[in-house]
Amino acid sequence: MIIRSYTESDFEGIKQVIHSVQTEECWPFYYPNGWDNRKILSEFNPLKNCRDSIFLVSEAEGQITGLIAGHDLDSFIEQEIPHLRAQFDELGIYQTKAFYQRDIILHKIHQRGTLGLRLFRDLQKHASETGYSTLVTRTPPLNSRGITFFSKLGYQEICEDSNPERVYFMMSLKPTFD
Ligand SMILES: CC(C)(COP(=O)(O)OP(=O)(O)OC[C@H]1O[C@@H](n2cnc3c(N)ncnc32)[C@H](O)[C@@H]1OP(=O)(O)O)[C@@H](O)C(=O)NCCC(=O)NCCS
Repeated sequence: MIIRSYTESDFEGIKQVIHSVQTEECWPFYYPNGWDNRKILSEFNPLKNCRDSIFLVSEAEGQITGLIAGHDLDSFIEQEIPHLRAQFDELGIYQTKAFYQRDIILHKIHQRGTLGLRLFRDLQKHASETGYSTLVTRTPPLNSRGITFFSKLGYQEICEDSNPERVYFMMSLKPTFD
C-alpha cells in the first residue's frame, strides 16, 4: 500500500471509495441520494483555494483504497461555518494555529486495519511541519465508528452544532509532558 498526493486522474478511484461507504451505517440517513460527482467536487474543490491544503490517497495494486484531506481551519470557518466563529474563539482555538482535517474515508474492504491510522499520521505530520499546533475535525453525531476512531486517535469532543448536525473535535499537536 502506498500513500501519495491526489491527482485529477484519481477521481474515479475516490468515487469508488466514497460509494463503498455511502450505503453503510449512518450514511444513507445523512445522504439519502449518496454523493454524486457534483457533491464530490464540491467537497474537494475548496482544497485548491485553502491555505496549506493536503489531499492524500492510498493505493494498492492500482486501486485507490482510501483518502484523507485537510487545510487551514480559518478558511473552513470563513467559508462554511462562520456562525461558529465566536464559539471557537471562546474555546481558545484562535489562540493556536489550527488545521482542519476535512475528510478521511477508507474503502469498506480496507477498514478495520491500520490504513486509517497511517493516513492520519501523514496528515498530522504535514500539519505539524507547516507550523500548526491544533487539529480540528467533525463528523455527524450518528457516525459512531467515526467518533470511536477519532477518540482513539486522541481527539477530544469540543462542541455540537445543528447547522449542519455535527460533533466537533480537537487535538493538540504539541507534545505534552504531564
Ligand atoms: C472512520 C474510518 C476512517 C475508521 O477507519 P477504520 O480502519 O475502520 O478504523 P477502526 O478504528 O474502526 O478500525 C481499526 C480497528 O479495528 C480493528 N479491527 C480489525 N478487524 C476488526 C473487526 N472485524 N471488527 C472490529 N474491529 C476490527 C483493528 O485492529 C483496529 O483496532 P485498534 O486500532 O483499536 O487496535 C472508517 O470506518 C471510514 O472510512 N468510515 C466511513 C467514512 C467516515 O466515517 N469518515 C470519518 C468521519 S467523516
